[in-house]
Amino acid sequence: MSIVHRARPEIQALHAYEAAAQVDDTVRLNANESPHSPASAHFRRPLNRYPEVRPQRLQAAMAARFGCAPGQLLVTRGSSEAIDLLVRTFCRAGYDNIVTPTPSFSMYRHYAEVQNAAVIEVATRAESDFMIDTTALLTACDDETRLVFVCSPNNPTGTQLARADLVGLIESLSDRAAVVVDEAYVEFSSENSAIELLDRYPNLVVLRTLSKALGFAGVRCGAVAANADIIRLLNVVQAPYALATPVVECVEDILQSDQLGAAETLVASIVTERERLQEDLAQYPFVDKVWPSEANFLLIRVADSGRLIEHCKSRNILLRDFANELRNCLRITVGSREENDKLLRALDTLQGI
Ligand SMILES: Cc1ncc(COP(=O)(O)O)c(C=O)c1O
Repeated sequence: MSIVHRARPEIQALHAYEAAAQVDDTVRLNANESPHSPASAHFRRPLNRYPEVRPQRLQAAMAARFGCAPGQLLVTRGSSEAIDLLVRTFCRAGYDNIVTPTPSFSMYRHYAEVQNAAVIEVATRAESDFMIDTTALLTACDDETRLVFVCSPNNPTGTQLARADLVGLIESLSDRAAVVVDEAYVEFSSENSAIELLDRYPNLVVLRTLSKALGFAGVRCGAVAANADIIRLLNVVQAPYALATPVVECVEDILQSDQLGAAETLVASIVTERERLQEDLAQYPFVDKVWPSEANFLLIRVADSGRLIEHCKSRNILLRDFANELRNCLRITVGSREENDKLLRALDTLQGI
């Protein structure tokens, strides 16, 4: 059964924005655009014209890439925008809530707060490697829960949610809430994308991005994949012309070229580096724990995270402090072999913590 009846009623009642018609080979006097195109030389489409309201070719290409029908996908400005769209579409301000395990990606809370939706957090435990307890997530859901965000592999812990647990969660929530699986790091993991479950579960939403494994964070492009009814609602909420012409053309080119094949080879090398770094980090006396990771980063606990981070910073290496959420924990992104070597050399000179 569809989940769209759980969306905000005013969004269900809205129609998509009606933009000025865009027809090739016509005299276009319907959109108050300039007739002059001063800086279009680098692009196939003229920059004096608005882009398509939704980039159709790009949508089809991304759907083919991620393995769903074009109608099951909306192209977004990174997966961050998809989180925002979902919260604004489903959560009534001041009434509804999202449920999410913690620690996890902070944007779920951020966008929920922007929308004045409540956030119900279900803590995972360091002692059990931050395993996500789907029974606890289900228990935390109430009548006002609209979205359950599960990041898998999870940022910052690197934890993968087992497929059977995910399916159990989706089936249990059925027509009550959507399960949003954030797969920003799925390319680094041993699990297939949950997109293959879309046809079976109308309350499943999957977020994908070009920012991580594929190496295009600067382009700001991602996608939300879901049942076509959900995509229609998100389409109503997303700004018209959200994807700029340079971005659309850049991503079209990326998808057609062999750049993604090359990126996949690089993923394998990052996974190898992750394993090397995991082993090497564990050797330092001040490293207390390196958690297993299915992503392109490692969460570690050390004797004094503040000192370690400062020490690396003084050698021009930036690490991400998580001490506010997890005592003495920090997250290290797996870099190139040279970058990781530089980190290890810096740690070799760290004494007295
Ligand atoms: C789990 C997770 N989801 C989504 C994002 C957002 O990625 P983007 O907006 O670049 O697609 C990030 C970025 O760090 C992330 O860690």
